[in-house]
Amino acid sequence: MLFEKDLLSVRLLTMQDYPLLVKWLSQPQVLEFYEGRDQSYNMSKISRLYGSKNLRGITACIVEYRGENIGYVQFYALPDQQKNEYGLRKEELIYGIDLFIGETSFWNRGIGTLLVTSLVQYLEWDCKVHRIVADPFEWNVRAIRCYEKAGFRKWKYLQHHEIHEGTWQNSWLMMYSSAK
Ligand SMILES: CC(C)(COP(=O)(O)OP(=O)(O)OC[C@H]1O[C@@H](n2cnc3c(N)ncnc32)[C@H](O)[C@@H]1OP(=O)(O)O)[C@@H](O)C(=O)NCCC(=O)NCCS
Repeated sequence: MLFEKDLLSVRLLTMQDYPLLVKWLSQPQVLEFYEGRDQSYNMSKISRLYGSKNLRGITACIVEYRGENIGYVQFYALPDQQKNEYGLRKEELIYGIDLFIGETSFWNRGIGTLLVTSLVQYLEWDCKVHRIVADPFEWNVRAIRCYEKAGFRKWKYLQHHEIHEGTWQNSWLMMYSSAK
């Protein structure tokens, strides 16, 4: 177990979890906000993408709520190229996070906010990371609100940031900075 907070716990992803990722990333409701509904995932694609060779510096985790697997979160030190693109200093240790709750019945119940808040605490206290970024699409108001409630602020508007469902999308680079 990486960390726990109230009824939520976060643990490292294992190969036994790949069917869960296939299930979650086959749902249009999830894909609409993560990866895109024009993408499809089967076991071989998931094992390639989430195998240790491909993940390298990324820590991939499963989120549990009351002992039930409900979602996925990953975090990583931002590579220099991405820091450069965002106008951030190379010397500073900055982490990026990506996440989704794959069980959609768990959306809009405050669990995403609990997840982001406890992840930030874990990264700050256990990993000594003082700045964390996320890059939700500008129209993903629920994710933006969730990050804001966890202490993130809109930091930079990223025009034509990512191709999603065949179209360039604008995003917000959101930043959490600890008081240090
Ligand atoms: C984004 C996600 C992790 C948020 O988790 P969650 O548990 O659903 O979010 P929370 O309940 O903690 O908070 C959501 C907030 O957004 C608000 N919200 C939800 N839908 C909204 C909408 N259409 N417009 C405005 N606000 C909205 C909620 O009211 C709540 O804010 P409040 O507490 O001030 O009322 C989850 O919804 C999810 O996995 N979505 C799909 C994948 C995704 O978007 N991942 C993030 C990629 S950056």
